[in-house]
Amino acid sequence: MLSAVLVLSVLALSLLIAQFLKLQWVGRRFPPGPTPLPFLGNLWTLNFRIDRDNLIELAKPYGNIYTVWLGQTPIVVINGYEAVRNSLTSHTDVFALRPGMPYFQKIFGENGIVFSNGHTWKQQRRFGLTTLRNLGLGKRSLEMRILEEAQHLVKFFAVQEGKPTDPYMSVVNSVSNVICAVVFGHRFSTDDKLFLRLIKSVNLVTRFPGTTWGWIYDVFSPLMPLLPGPHKKVFGCWEEVRSFVREEIKLHRERRVAGDPPEDLIDYFQDEITKTKNDPTSVFYENSLITVGLEFFLAGIDTTSTSLLWALLYMVEYPDVQEKVQKELDAVLEPSEIICYEDRKRLPYTNAVIHEVQRYASILTGVGRQSLKDTSFQGFFIPKGTIIFGNLTSALYDPEHWETPRQFNPSHFLDKEGKFVNKEAFMPFSAGHRVCLGEQLARTELFMFFTSLLRAFTFHLPRNEEKKISSDYVLGTTVHPLPYQICAVPR
Ligand code: HEM
Ligand SMILES: *[C@@H]1O[C@H](CO)[C@@H](O)[C@H](O)[C@H]1NC(C)=O
Repeated sequence: MLSAVLVLSVLALSLLIAQFLKLQWVGRRFPPGPTPLPFLGNLWTLNFRIDRDNLIELAKPYGNIYTVWLGQTPIVVINGYEAVRNSLTSHTDVFALRPGMPYFQKIFGENGIVFSNGHTWKQQRRFGLTTLRNLGLGKRSLEMRILEEAQHLVKFFAVQEGKPTDPYMSVVNSVSNVICAVVFGHRFSTDDKLFLRLIKSVNLVTRFPGTTWGWIYDVFSPLMPLLPGPHKKVFGCWEEVRSFVREEIKLHRERRVAGDPPEDLIDYFQDEITKTKNDPTSVFYENSLITVGLEFFLAGIDTTSTSLLWALLYMVEYPDVQEKVQKELDAVLEPSEIICYEDRKRLPYTNAVIHEVQRYASILTGVGRQSLKDTSFQGFFIPKGTIIFGNLTSALYDPEHWETPRQFNPSHFLDKEGKFVNKEAFMPFSAGHRVCLGEQLARTELFMFFTSLLRAFTFHLPRNEEKKISSDYVLGTTVHPLPYQICAVPR
């Protein structure tokens, strides 16, 4: 008995040592970084999560480009505006691929836009961009839809009559309805039980990868189907969401008479399915329609609503900024004037504030890429198939490019005369050929929602919380603020 235990222990120990040596050996080929442990890599030292600040501590001795091991997978982290931009743009042919993270692979497969590569990605991305344009992006029609949702949000705050309210759910609902209009061609009432469930589920699925369980899932994915845990619930919700979309597709098919012009993403996609029916390489079929539709939800809701929630929080934190925005809005716009996206050019200060919100909040810490072949980058050898993590926050906070990177300061986007200036290091939507597909939609939404709210209300904290303002963050897929309450006082 005793000898069996002994033999097993020796075996286990040799296995660990062998693993350790193997990692050392393989690791020599990558940029430097902290020593990985067998099986866990650097997860141990990271407390099982990549945090905005803990990694930089770990990486300090290694400079702007370093390797960190998530379990058995080496990830090369790239920091600083120049290096990040180079990795995303000038090296697009080398760092062309989107790495397949097990969680998203399970959720989406590879038939949509966000997690596909090659032929599928090209076709779906082109379809997505054309469809957004066809649905009125950059024209008055889609702006009016967005404005309608902004007005619903204004109404929601008006009903509260300045009492403390948590804006979270209503902001999410409004932003979701913009995406619903694009994908389904209609909005949902905010007391629609089904809609609320849908949004809740989408949120759960979006935020799971940022949780500790999310990390564990990606590192130990082969074991996960066997284990209990929150991932089971997440996948259950996901099934529900997919059936919901399947049902919408069915309704669209039944309702639409042949020859009717397409009115939303589902219609456009169905037309594509019909057109390519006889093409065996076609990427357009019902399952990929569900994926693309839901990718708009996953990519477009949490990001935009989180940015708006930060914007409101910064306005109560910096009341002087809020006041200046309102002064500018009042001076430039007639009281009953309907605002349009073009007006940002007449509103340099407001525009600068919205940009600074996105810079300072830096809600997506970074983007993943994978190298297509062996390459050398900034003096380091990077083997084929390596996952690259371009740190967007490091560009948005790069001290070489921002006067006061760690302060909320709208002057970052203004010249001496108060005119708006674009900054090259401003890249919250990333850069290169995989840059955010919804960038223009998101920018239009942020502008329309933000200006509508500040024209109607002055925001402040509940009286008894004046001192307790917290802009602490939680790292999910996006960096979002802790729940807060706010008072919207009609102007
Ligand atoms: C403030 C809001 C938003 C931010 C900060 C944001 C940011 C980003 C970032 C950083 C990426 C990764 C790009 C890369 O890999 O280099 C991305 C990709 C993407 N975003 Fe957004 N996004 C926002 C809103 C939206 C909206 C409203 C949509 C809806 C259409 C959307 C759709 C997408 C899609 C489809 C991709 C994948 C593109 C590809 O892989 O080719 N995003 N976004
Ligand atoms: C990304 O950059 C920010 C700001 O410089 C830094 O705090 C963070 O630790 C960096 N993240 C990684 C993964 O290196």
